[in-house]
Amino acid sequence: MDELDSLFVNGRVITPDGPLDGDVAVGVTDGTIAAIGTPASLPSADRVVDLDGQYLLPGVVDCHVHTRSPGDEHKEDWTTITRAAAAGGVTTLIAMPNTDPIVSTPDRLRRVYEIADRDALVDFQSYGVLTAENTAQVTPLAEAGAAGYKVFLGTTFGEIEPPNDGQLFDAMKEIAETGLRVGFHEENDDILSFYEAETKAAGRNRALDHARSRPVVAEAEAVQRTTLFSEHTGCPVHMFHLSSGTAAEIVARGKARGVNVSAETCPHYLWFDEDVYAEKGNAARVQPPIRSTAERDRLWEVGIDGDGVDCVATDHAPHTDEEKGLSDPFGNTWESISGFVGVETEVPAMATFVDEGRLSLGEWIRLHCVRPAKLWGLYPQKGSLQVGTDADFTVVDPAVEWTLDRRSLHSKSTATPFDGARFRGRATMTVVRGSVVYAEGEVLASPGDGERVPVGETVDASALE
Ligand code: NCD
Ligand code: ZN
Repeated sequence: MDELDSLFVNGRVITPDGPLDGDVAVGVTDGTIAAIGTPASLPSADRVVDLDGQYLLPGVVDCHVHTRSPGDEHKEDWTTITRAAAAGGVTTLIAMPNTDPIVSTPDRLRRVYEIADRDALVDFQSYGVLTAENTAQVTPLAEAGAAGYKVFLGTTFGEIEPPNDGQLFDAMKEIAETGLRVGFHEENDDILSFYEAETKAAGRNRALDHARSRPVVAEAEAVQRTTLFSEHTGCPVHMFHLSSGTAAEIVARGKARGVNVSAETCPHYLWFDEDVYAEKGNAARVQPPIRSTAERDRLWEVGIDGDGVDCVATDHAPHTDEEKGLSDPFGNTWESISGFVGVETEVPAMATFVDEGRLSLGEWIRLHCVRPAKLWGLYPQKGSLQVGTDADFTVVDPAVEWTLDRRSLHSKSTATPFDGARFRGRATMTVVRGSVVYAEGEVLASPGDGERVPVGETVDASALE
């Protein structure tokens, strides 16, 4: 074998089956992994990176981020979100289509790719949106290269009108032919509107009132309905930002009878329970809301420890402090807005769960690297850490204990309920296709370094490793 471009030594290489035994080095040439083996068995390299016993993970894939570009660049843009991703140890982002304009046609999708090509520091993909208006765009969006589809069943930022059940069911037959997956903002809109109106009329206006106005049954019903539609169409479905154990149970039951249904949860649903609203007010306002202790604990049990959740992503949803009303976080929740940033807290949150013994290292890798890549057709190029694939790495120091000060975040907006959280572990180096994009507290990549990842077929989620 020829000389390598770089060699990562003294790392603890983490695979889906856990850490590799012994002294394992990873060699990189031309942006791909050229060899994995004992240092003595590998050729020499131009550059040797000593990881000093830290974890070497496959690059983290976040399959749920709102980049806000085009249209809402005052909240975030492709440069600021990917700078934050690099600093957070995230090597690939899949962008949500509730931009302005929404990503509902091939031309608009191509526009997103152009912006990201120009502005992104890490690798990327994007979903196309399906609404009441554009069900004719299913195949054209697939042909234009989309990672999959997003349907906003419950009203949320962007006010996108969902397809009705007939339109959705029919579109799902066509999606089934594309090899792609459709994911949902799975909340029943009628239930949301009813309780929002009732809550407002009763004069209840705290952050917890907003949370309670979106009850678990709204999520459970949408999961149930779309899982049933999947069963009848063969269309692969995904539940974005699953928040409750009750809903995770419906996913697990669907998988058990062979339905191609997958689900993601977010670190905030695993970390917090609804007590967060008394502590953080509208800083923690998000849709779906953070749930009761019982639902959160059941999400761990049925979702993470069981089959109800396949992957973890952030729903990184930046809004300015003014938009969230953070001059008084306990002010009127109906004047606030839902969502907060996440790409710089997901690795520390997951590392902390591992440190607490709630998650094994192998399970972390499956949730955060392998399965998001598989579900959205990016595997094995992304998420695998195998010879011949992209040399994307997330290096984690598992021992460092630290407290988040949101002023240190790299996003344009920095509202997060994790402000002040105590973590154990953080990303110390991020590598994308062999280039170190973040190290020693510095973002080293430039806008334009990020590349679009080609999309292959999704997998059968009922038999996902
Ligand atoms: C998201 C946003 O702000 O774009 N907000 C949120 O509360 N999750 C929209 C969404 O994912 O529903
Ligand atoms: Zn959503």
